Order: sequence, then structure tokens, then C-alpha cells
Amino acid sequence: MRVAVVGAGIVGLACAEELVRAGHDVRVFDPDPGAGATRAAAGMLAPAGEAWHGETELLRLGVASARLWPSYAARLHAAAGLDVDLRTAGTLLAGQDHDDLLHVRRTLAVLEAEGVAFRELDRREARAEEPTLSRVAGAALLPEDHHVNPRLVAEALLRLVGAHLVRARAEVTPSGVATADGRSFPSDAVVVATGAEARELVPAVRPVRGETIRLRAADPPTRVLRARVHGEKVYVVPRAGGEVVVGASEEEHDTVPVASLGTIVRLLHAARTLVPGLETAGVVDITARNRPGTPDNGPLLGTVDSPGPFRLVLAVGHYRGGVLLAPLSAQIVRILVENGNAMGVARPFAPGRFDAYQLVNSPAVRRVFSS
Ligand code: GLY
Repeated sequence: MRVAVVGAGIVGLACAEELVRAGHDVRVFDPDPGAGATRAAAGMLAPAGEAWHGETELLRLGVASARLWPSYAARLHAAAGLDVDLRTAGTLLAGQDHDDLLHVRRTLAVLEAEGVAFRELDRREARAEEPTLSRVAGAALLPEDHHVNPRLVAEALLRLVGAHLVRARAEVTPSGVATADGRSFPSDAVVVATGAEARELVPAVRPVRGETIRLRAADPPTRVLRARVHGEKVYVVPRAGGEVVVGASEEEHDTVPVASLGTIVRLLHAARTLVPGLETAGVVDITARNRPGTPDNGPLLGTVDSPGPFRLVLAVGHYRGGVLLAPLSAQIVRILVENGNAMGVARPFAPGRFDAYQLVNSPAVRRVFSS
């Protein structure tokens, strides 16, 4: 099939790579691949650490995708010749004070109900597991929440699909897609994977700004630390070479994402309270990007009414889970492209759960229908 993938963030690239591997004739369109939310992502594969009440289907989707990651990372390494820094030491979920710990326990209640592994630790056990921690009230070890370096994943995927990349903005037309400079690409299927920019086509998607700060530390933590620190949510993610990523804010806003002083101060203050040794870490850079948020925090994975004789597939709205969900989303999208049906675990994430009228009445679709 001739498949156009619009958007080359981690989700679009993973979809393109899966489709190329399945033998399809793929073009992936993006003026600046990997430069959106992927660039800011810390790379946590954290279905457990991000579990919350009312999001059981999302937890199941996340657990299923997390299980694909070890073989996915190994395959990328072998095929692209790039180690994407998958680390499997698990995650420590900590509460700095008593109230923060109550919050941690609410997450643990969700995990317990779903049979997801965790081990609660008192203050002393937490420090023994992770000596860089300050005196937290308590914690839990999440042995199956791992992490990768998303910038390396995007680079590996780009190596694999680079020959199929069209460096241009593209939009959906009645025959497939067309680039802003007027080139037309008739398609049998179009996959929209444009992250927060999908909001023009899919009003259910909204931008939620997140900021990450990269540090270089002499004594980094040995595993991912996620915590509430006197009410502030923060995570500290160690990567190769002493790099440590601190994140991440979640702010509703609808303009170009720029890191704000207040947010950075709050994040760094929380990170230093949690890991006092970060006091002397060097600041490498600060990145702000829009996550693609949705009303129920789950992605939109499925087909929608097409303006032409091709399948129109959405792979948008991955919000906090783009990196985690990329390998499974790619499989789901390939099956949607090939036969229009979603895998079981993806069914709760059909785009039709949001107002279909809204979808077809978005300005971009109106333009498509009237052109
Ligand atoms: N999943 C981490 C974040 O969205 O900040």
C-alpha cells in the first residue's frame, strides 16, 4: 500500500518504520523530524509510575507497550547500529513528606487492583535502594518502569526510515496528502501523527506544555526517581555519561512553548530537595515543548471518516506516553492501515469516543472537503 505518515516525532517515526518493515510504500512528512515533544521527553517507560484512578485502560495499554521495549530497543540497536540507552533498573516512586506519601499510595492502590508489581519501602529501605535520595517519608520500587533516551530512539528510527522522509509540512487532501510547496502524494492510507499540532484536525487534542532540564552530575541516581516533593511533582532520570533529566511541568497553554522562569525554579528546587547531590550539577540545557493532551489522557488510535478513497488513521494524543506507547502504537497503526480494525487493547482509544462532529468540522477537514 502507498502510505503517507504525517509527522515524524517518535510516534510517526515508529509507525513509518513498522510500515516500511511490513513492505509498504511509505512516505513520512515532517519539516523537522524529532523536534517536537520527542525532543523534550525524558523517555520514561512508566505505565506504573503514571497510573491513576479512572485510567485503567491506559495502564493496560502502557503495560503492553512497556513489555515490547526490550526487544524493540535491541532491534533498533541491531538494525540502526545505535544503542538507545534502555535502562532496566526500575523506578523509585517517592513521597517527600507525609502528604506526598499519601499521594504515592493512591497510585499503589491502582497498581494493586491491576496486579502491577511494586514493593513498598520505608524511609530507610528507600535510602538503601537509592543512596542519593534525601530523607523521604517513604517510597515504592516499581521494578517494571524503565527508560530510554528518546533523542537516540528518534535518531535510530530516522536512520531506518530516512530514505522515506520528505522534509516538508503536509496536509490531508481528498487524494492523500499534499506538501505546503504543492507536491501531491496520492495514498491508499494516511496516518496522522502530528502530536500537539493535530489540534487543527482533531480538536480533542490540546497542547500541554512540559519543560525538561538536562544536567550533568558527578553522582547521578542509579535509577529513575519520581516523586512529589511538598506537593510538587518531579522526576529525575539518569542517562549515559552522567546526564540527568529533570522534569516535567504540565501547563495548559496555547502558544509557542517557552520555558518559564517560575516553572524551572520550582522543578529544580524540587529535584535538589529530593537529590541533594544535584546542588553542584552543571546545567546543559532547558527544553519546552507541547505534549498532545486529550480529555481522558489517552491517545486517539483508529480510523476516522476520510475525505477521499483512502484510509485515514489517527495516531495522536499520546500526551505523557508517546515514548512508552510508540512500539505498540506502531503495531496498532499497521493493522489499522492494512485492514481498518484495531487490536483489542486499542479499542478503548478509538477516536470516535470524542465528538465525531467535532472531528469532521475542524477547520482543516472543512478545507479538505471544500477543496
Ligand atoms: N511522561 C513524562 C511526562 O510527560 O512528563
